[in-house]
Amino acid sequence: MKKILVTGGLGFIGAHTVVELQNEGFEVVIIDNLSNTSINVLTSIADITGITPDFHQIDLRNKGDVQEFFSNNTVDGIIHFAAFKAVGESMHKPLDYYENNLGTLVYLLQEMRNHQLNNFIFSSSCTVYGQADELPITEKAPVKTAESVYGNTKQIGEEILKDASNAYNLNAIALRYFNPIGAHDSIKIGELPLGVPQNLIPFITQTAAGIRKELSVFGDDYDTPDGTAVRDYIHVVDLAKAHIAALKRLIYKNNKASFEFFNVGTGTGSSVLEIIKTFEKVNNLKLNYKIVARRAGDITAAYADTTIANKELGWKTEKSLEEALESAWKWQQKQQLKQQQQQ
Ligand code: WQD
Repeated sequence: MKKILVTGGLGFIGAHTVVELQNEGFEVVIIDNLSNTSINVLTSIADITGITPDFHQIDLRNKGDVQEFFSNNTVDGIIHFAAFKAVGESMHKPLDYYENNLGTLVYLLQEMRNHQLNNFIFSSSCTVYGQADELPITEKAPVKTAESVYGNTKQIGEEILKDASNAYNLNAIALRYFNPIGAHDSIKIGELPLGVPQNLIPFITQTAAGIRKELSVFGDDYDTPDGTAVRDYIHVVDLAKAHIAALKRLIYKNNKASFEFFNVGTGTGSSVLEIIKTFEKVNNLKLNYKIVARRAGDITAAYADTTIANKELGWKTEKSLEEALESAWKWQQKQQLKQQQQQ
């Protein structure tokens, strides 16, 4: 049985990927420092799959702890999610972001080199494209100067991977995510934003739950059909499955270069107002929202051309936007229930 290390494996995308890895028969070991999640997610994963992954609470910024882990653990691949990911916050804390998102990447790659380990999957983002000149966005679209420190850490991360895979016997794939949303069918794992949500879907579900008074729609004066910004919202389970496809590509040596990258989206763009309307329809409720000024740094539109990912990874999305928005709401309602029961 192949053993896979998942860093950030108790996070939103990480936990969903651990479930899919276990479903595919991989043995999973998780490293997470619990800075942006809860240890309860480990139990939830075990509830879904019947298997409790090996878990190590390690902060990857502690080089000694990383070295100790790899002196005691041999793995057949690494899927690296652990990183800070708040675009706005990254502008106020650049050094924290460079240290956590890039310093830890270097430590992991050094250990792979030292122990002759291979097969590295990197969590990247469509943010690297900025506002692409052409839509849908293909992998040939140029990487533009990052508009945020967060986006810059993804661009530099890919550069580090390219150089490391060229210099050492290392094969790596960067998955450039579009907008991950939704929750597992079991409603046992989902998005757990700490504090005021930055992302659209958790803010919508918390507004519907009455936790937030109303949703602010950041601008309706974009050059889009209804004036609100367009994004490619991908169900987190489909995104998790893309990681398995990429990992298998490396394990079975089907990669065509030592460093590759793929756009992982649905291929369809949805505006903020379309998301609101779809959320209201599938969940049979009315959402409080108002139109306000644009948010600094936001782009007009981004959605993926999925041709290359479909072909090279043998992967495509299977879940609909409606399923994602319904599962997001069910997950939110479950959080409320849990909190009421704890009171
Ligand atoms: C989506 C749309 C907002 C909140 C970022 C990162 C990306 C990834 C996902 C980490 C935009 C609008 C949002 C709100 C709104 N990061 N919006 N009201 O900015 O596309 O992507 O998060 O995994 O790498 O770049 O996602 O969910 O913040 O915004 O109107 O309260 O919703 O303006 O058009 P974004 P988002």
